[in-house]
Amino acid sequence: MNYKPRLVTERLHRLLDHFPIVVISGARQVGKTTLAAHALPHWQSVVFDPSVDVGNARADPDLFLDNHPPPLVLDEIQFAPELVAALKRRVDQSGQPGQYVLTGSQQWSVLKTASESLAGRAVFVDLESFSLSEIGGAASAEHWLHRYLADPGGFAALPASGHCLTRTPYEQLWRGFLPEADGLHLDLVGEFHRAYVRTSASRAVTWMSPFGLGHTHTSVHAGGIASDRIRFRSLASVMSLPLGR
Ligand SMILES: Nc1ncnc2c1ncn2[C@@H]1O[C@H](COP(=O)(O)OP(=O)(O)OP(=O)(O)O)[C@@H](O)[C@H]1O
Ligand SMILES: [Mg+2]
Repeated sequence: MNYKPRLVTERLHRLLDHFPIVVISGARQVGKTTLAAHALPHWQSVVFDPSVDVGNARADPDLFLDNHPPPLVLDEIQFAPELVAALKRRVDQSGQPGQYVLTGSQQWSVLKTASESLAGRAVFVDLESFSLSEIGGAASAEHWLHRYLADPGGFAALPASGHCLTRTPYEQLWRGFLPEADGLHLDLVGEFHRAYVRTSASRAVTWMSPFGLGHTHTSVHAGGIASDRIRFRSLASVMSLPLGR
């Protein structure tokens, strides 16, 4: 994989310097697992599974945490919700920062429960799909407003190429902003999106239907779709496309 650095990496490290638990949440396939693996290469990691009780975490969360000391990445935490209360007890005993990173998809009620019961102990990093500057490899943690305030004239004079587009806007629109689609051969991008819709978005429809409740385990969360819409609009503005609302 040709890893592209994520803008939130610095913030993730900074949060781990101060909080015992950081939760990386976000829609399916935005790069949560990959970010954790690259940003924290020396951390142990456990990936949970919907059908297998990995490491007996659900049956005996305290023993599981004894067997897996921090620093630890708990990936797909929604499949081991019993861990949340045990984690809370642990970090209450030792408030040492940088102990656990949890990842999960935002729509999961377990993450909502986690955020409530871990209040004051955990902070959230909401990961989104690639931004234009991440795609262009020009990831700068500096917010555009800071750059504008530092040099308003220079910022306003930036050409559209200042948005670091590495391909034509039309190709970018076709690819979208999910990391996997970014590196795919162009003729496979359509297949990728069809599969994504089948496995994620169509389940969202089932998830939202009263008949589907309890039968599905994933969905595209509204925030992910909304942020891609925002990216689409910013790309459209680079292209000077007239977009209706
Ligand atoms: N920063 C990156 N640079 C290049 N490729 C990436 C990057 N992040 C993710 N990818 C690719 O995108 C795909 C999805 O990444 P990943 O599995 O980390 O997403 P995820 O959010 O954990 O997905 P899921 O919700 O399904 O667990 C992988 O094939 C991965 O190789
Ligand atoms: Mg993952």
